[in-house]
Amino acid sequence: MEITVRTDAALGAQATDFDHRTASEEDIARLKEAVYRHKIVVLKQQDLSPRDYLDLGRRLGRPETYYEEMYQHPEVPEVFVSSNVPEDGKQVGVPKTGKFWHADYMFMPNPFGLTLIYPQVIPQRNRGTYFIDMGRAYERLPEDLRQEIAGTRCVHSVRKYFKIRPHDVYRPLSEIIDEVESKSPPVTHPTTFTHPMTGETVLYLSEGFTVGIEDEDGKPLDDLLLDRLYEATGQRDETYRHENIHLQSFEKGDLLIWDNRSLIHRALHTSTPEPTASYRVTVHDEKPLYEGLRVPGEQGGPEGDPR
Ligand SMILES: [Fe+2]
Repeated sequence: MEITVRTDAALGAQATDFDHRTASEEDIARLKEAVYRHKIVVLKQQDLSPRDYLDLGRRLGRPETYYEEMYQHPEVPEVFVSSNVPEDGKQVGVPKTGKFWHADYMFMPNPFGLTLIYPQVIPQRNRGTYFIDMGRAYERLPEDLRQEIAGTRCVHSVRKYFKIRPHDVYRPLSEIIDEVESKSPPVTHPTTFTHPMTGETVLYLSEGFTVGIEDEDGKPLDDLLLDRLYEATGQRDETYRHENIHLQSFEKGDLLIWDNRSLIHRALHTSTPEPTASYRVTVHDEKPLYEGLRVPGEQGGPEGDPR
């Protein structure tokens, strides 16, 4: 395996000659190290079945199966399918996912550290995903804003982007909202945390999932503070030319691994949709998202309390 760091962009590296079936433990450690350091590593020339892909994920950590069934691959549920390409006339997975700034599972009590994306059908014209490195974005925040958020926590919820499922048709909206709120109640995480693998301070919030900010006593703060943070980090820039925004492109055979602690991302916006499909596997690595993360139901975690 050879890892080459990109010199034409602020983020990213690529790995050639990587085969998860023959990679040594040392190769895996080197690969993960490159992901934490360069935030995105593209594995080149991968040719994997959904099951092989899951095996690759298992070499990096413990896979997390997406909690909503409609996203799951019919044969390998750990594989999340984003697709607008019907198979045998049937919808597989979910189309138009992730067209908003977010980190994966930010709205959950125990988000995972690594996301893997393996594009299957590659659009001809508009391909790619936008990323913001929230460690770097934190470094660039004005000092007054950094001081204002010290000790605060953000509230996250899936409610703005929860997608109606086929079986929700004809259900009253209020009933669906109640179900979303009870099945995935809002969670809080610190507004900034220390990245356990790199020691960087990461700003952990996104326009798609963050719905509030609180002081250390749990008292809600003015939403204007969140607006200022979205603005400063580049999440409000609809031209995508903000210095924090990185567009990652890909070609057939590429498999992207990224640091889901540091990066927020959004699917490239297109006004004319093209056929596109990709498979996602997500894994928990050796450490929780941040030190002190309390997982409900686990030892030391507050039973049933997602905060
Ligand atoms: Fe995502």
